[in-house]
Amino acid sequence: MHSPPRHNILSMAPSAAMTSILEVRELVKTFGDLKAVGGVSFSIRQGICFGLLGPNGAGKTTTIEVIEDIIPQTEGEILYKGKPRSPEYSAQIGIQFQHTALLDFLTVREILATFRSFYSVRADIDALSKLCQLGDILEQYNNRISGGQKQRMLLALALINDPELVFLDEPSTGLDPQARRNLWDIVLDIKKSGRTVILTTHNMEEAQHLCDEVAIMDHGRIIAQGPPDGLIKHHCRGTTVVLPRGSLRRPPEGLSHPWRAAGDSIVVETEDINDCLKNLMALEVDLNDVLIHSPNLEDVFLKLTGRKLRD
Ligand SMILES: Nc1ncnc2c1ncn2[C@@H]1O[C@H](COP(=O)(O)OP(=O)(O)O)[C@@H](O)[C@H]1O
Ligand SMILES: [Mg+2]
Repeated sequence: MHSPPRHNILSMAPSAAMTSILEVRELVKTFGDLKAVGGVSFSIRQGICFGLLGPNGAGKTTTIEVIEDIIPQTEGEILYKGKPRSPEYSAQIGIQFQHTALLDFLTVREILATFRSFYSVRADIDALSKLCQLGDILEQYNNRISGGQKQRMLLALALINDPELVFLDEPSTGLDPQARRNLWDIVLDIKKSGRTVILTTHNMEEAQHLCDEVAIMDHGRIIAQGPPDGLIKHHCRGTTVVLPRGSLRRPPEGLSHPWRAAGDSIVVETEDINDCLKNLMALEVDLNDVLIHSPNLEDVFLKLTGRKLRD
């Protein structure tokens, strides 16, 4: 188990402290006897996409709902730009909820205009519609649009007050792969516009694609934290090569890398894929039959918990 590095914001140089938009310290949230969040700490630099990654029930939504000031914490401290959250905080952040009830008889444009009217700082609807690709559906009733279109509208609603900090709770859950890719592009554009994004996901591909840093949560705790690439390198050093036993024309004893038999396959683990492939070629293995698996965040989770993220 690796505990995340602790930063004491008071001991940092002012310029370094300024770059952290959000600081969460020892956050605990209990519901009766259940400790949904058991003491998590992290700090988020301005302008990055930070992901809370973990299986269902890990405490991701609870954590961000506390940070969003939707529900109160049981213990712990949350600092926005170095200070406790002010009464104006709620109007300064943007939230895309996992579930949102909207009035069916309003068009997308009317929904946007309604929410926009609640704030004193207001985003430009045309710019927002362009960013979130809503041009074709602005005049449609919001209950007549597809899942992907609805997610894009909810994203636009999260940006309606031109927030610096945006929360997205499982933004692509339930979307088909095409709609998910589309949404990812928009999230990256949101980040490019200089905003800080905090998202939750149980999809490691999403975390890897979007997040500069992730905190992997399990049972209300952070079990690993850092940039996806760094976490993968740190926890899963090798590449896995799987070859059907039949593709080996010589005995596997000739393999120069550690291997094991798994059913009808031979599984080779290597930290030097180039050397491993040279070895396989020397053994006259047809590389067309070979499956190469580079480790990902799913493997990090498996390594740390012995379980799969999706189970
Ligand atoms: N309002 C609530 N009352 C009681 N238990 C809750 C409540 N909200 C969440 N929980 C519980 O807290 C745990 C964490 O839930 P949640 O934060 O929604 O996880 P995640 O978003 O990672 O799936 C779960 O066991 C869930 O059942
Ligand atoms: Mg959740």
